[in-house]
Amino acid sequence: MIKTTPHQFGGSWTEEKLERIRKYLKEYMKIFSKNPRAKYFRTIYVDAFAGTGYRDLTKSNEPVGGLFDDLEGDAEVQRFLNGSAVVALENQPPFSEYLFLEKEPKYAKELNLLKERYVHLGSSIQVHNEEANQFLQNWCQQTDWTKTRAVVFLDPYGMQVKWQTLEMIAKTQGIDLWILFPLGQAVNRLLTRKGLPDESQSTRLTELFGTSDWKNAFYRTEMVTDLFDTREQTSKIANLEAIGKFFVERLSVIFEKVAKNPRPLKNSREVPIYLLCFAVSNPKGASTAIRIASYILGH
Ligand SMILES: C[S@@+](CC[C@H](N)C(=O)[O-])C[C@H]1O[C@@H](n2cnc3c(N)ncnc32)[C@H](O)[C@@H]1O
Repeated sequence: MIKTTPHQFGGSWTEEKLERIRKYLKEYMKIFSKNPRAKYFRTIYVDAFAGTGYRDLTKSNEPVGGLFDDLEGDAEVQRFLNGSAVVALENQPPFSEYLFLEKEPKYAKELNLLKERYVHLGSSIQVHNEEANQFLQNWCQQTDWTKTRAVVFLDPYGMQVKWQTLEMIAKTQGIDLWILFPLGQAVNRLLTRKGLPDESQSTRLTELFGTSDWKNAFYRTEMVTDLFDTREQTSKIANLEAIGKFFVERLSVIFEKVAKNPRPLKNSREVPIYLLCFAVSNPKGASTAIRIASYILGH
């Protein structure tokens, strides 16, 4: 397959992430196609950081199986695996609608081509070349949640998801949310060891967590005495586990239920770069959704 706009990202943890999304979508649509009460709802899959629909492995370090070996040496040929948008489009039974958001124009163009590949779903696929937070906040407000249920997948590179967006998602009472929290990728790096992060980074962290309480949770101020004087010293006390726990607790404040076993996605040096989290806003479906997601996260 030759594609015009390569999109390289991720490592083997990307497989881990997508496999879990794929399993959840399958179970979700099984329920919504079989359960007489659930069948009433229009179902939407929303990918707010959708990419192109594919992942380019041409230059990545990701191990590629024998499947692609016969392509070696052909400079024209790139190696692609499915990205989340294609994973969702392949799901059986299908969702009633697919909503793909992507800020990068050339990626959005690629997403539009999926309508040709999935002709049978063509009219149910919408692609918007827009900023995810802005779009989602309006969409959450404008959708009729008495007739709609949705799975929203937020898969940013870094700290692009605003807390306000999560609040709007939680308020709908109709959305199951999968979100990649940028634990080691961004957040832990911003948390300086000595002293709080500078003002602009602190503001970013507060926007991400929806509170400035992270300062007390992640830092301790104490009096230290050396040869010359006694002074206040603020130091980081939080490790990766505590940071992840804090985010999950924050989600619990606004969502009906949150999976207690988010999955750390680790790089080749075993550092958790993201935390794959699940939260549900629909009170009626919450227990079932959490049971399924927790199982998927744990296996
Ligand atoms: C990690 S990639 C998504 C990969 C995709 N989920 C997949 O599995 O194929 C993140 C994508 O989000 C896009 N993006 C970054 N910031 C964005 C924003 N604020 N709104 C919408 N898209 C954004 C990037 O251009 C990039 O394509």
